[in-house]
Amino acid sequence: MAPTFLMTDPGHFDVSYTINPWMSPAAWTPAHARAARAGSAALSWALQAAGARVEMVPAVPGLPDLVFPANAAVVLDGVALLARFRHPERQGEEAPFRAAFETLKRRGWIDRIVELPDGLVHEGAGDALWDETRGVFWTGHGQRSDAAAAEVIARTFGRPAVALELASPHFYHLDTCFRPLSGGEVLYYPQAFTPRALAAIEARIAPADRLIATRQDAEALCVNAVCLGRTVIMARAPAELKARIEARGYTLVEVDLAPFILSGGAAFCMTLRLDLVSAPQGVPA
Ligand code: ARG
Repeated sequence: MAPTFLMTDPGHFDVSYTINPWMSPAAWTPAHARAARAGSAALSWALQAAGARVEMVPAVPGLPDLVFPANAAVVLDGVALLARFRHPERQGEEAPFRAAFETLKRRGWIDRIVELPDGLVHEGAGDALWDETRGVFWTGHGQRSDAAAAEVIARTFGRPAVALELASPHFYHLDTCFRPLSGGEVLYYPQAFTPRALAAIEARIAPADRLIATRQDAEALCVNAVCLGRTVIMARAPAELKARIEARGYTLVEVDLAPFILSGGAAFCMTLRLDLVSAPQGVPA
């Protein structure tokens, strides 16, 4: 299966409520809506230029954050564990995302759809990042997702989950402050984590593989990046970060995602990878 990403049509995206410190409805203008359409199209083109396919979820009026399908589900090995949202503002997304997954299942992109246990909140791949190098999920909790979801993810996918507690309201999903790259490096922003979570990171990631994001990198939401092979796609990046990533042998592609940053999201969370497998193809598990 070619690398395949879910994205959502940005036709009804705006910032009309506040559920994280980035969101200010008063700052939103019609020009942002136009720029959002251009930014989403540019991201889709960047993914396709890197060799991926893009599947689009239709926009739904009144659900602006539907443009962040990373929060729809955790997907690995053809299994989709559907999300449950913390905030009422986003709970309306659960039905259209479920419908999107049912369509993907009918079309053979997904084998099985799994529900979270009752009462548990977990916001999908935004708080569960698959690390292909280490064969583990890194999960985030403490801002949006429940800590207990780590165990459910480990059981559902039969892979270990390393639970990391998030300490900052600005970095409320793990994907805003932590990004494993295909070569084994991890780009992360230490200030977003509790001391215990940082210790868990440092216990598992060798110093040579730690790419420490600066405050400027984190505030540009550049940690929220897509990595596809040796291509890294992110929002407009500080020059030093660009140089550091390119020095590791990656091609960095920047996309202007300013309107989405006003909602607290960027490249990674505007996508959801559908074809991840726990054992690389051709290699026994
Ligand atoms: N406004 C959205 C929210 O607060 C942004 C979500 C971004 N998603 C992510 N996985 N980082 O929920």
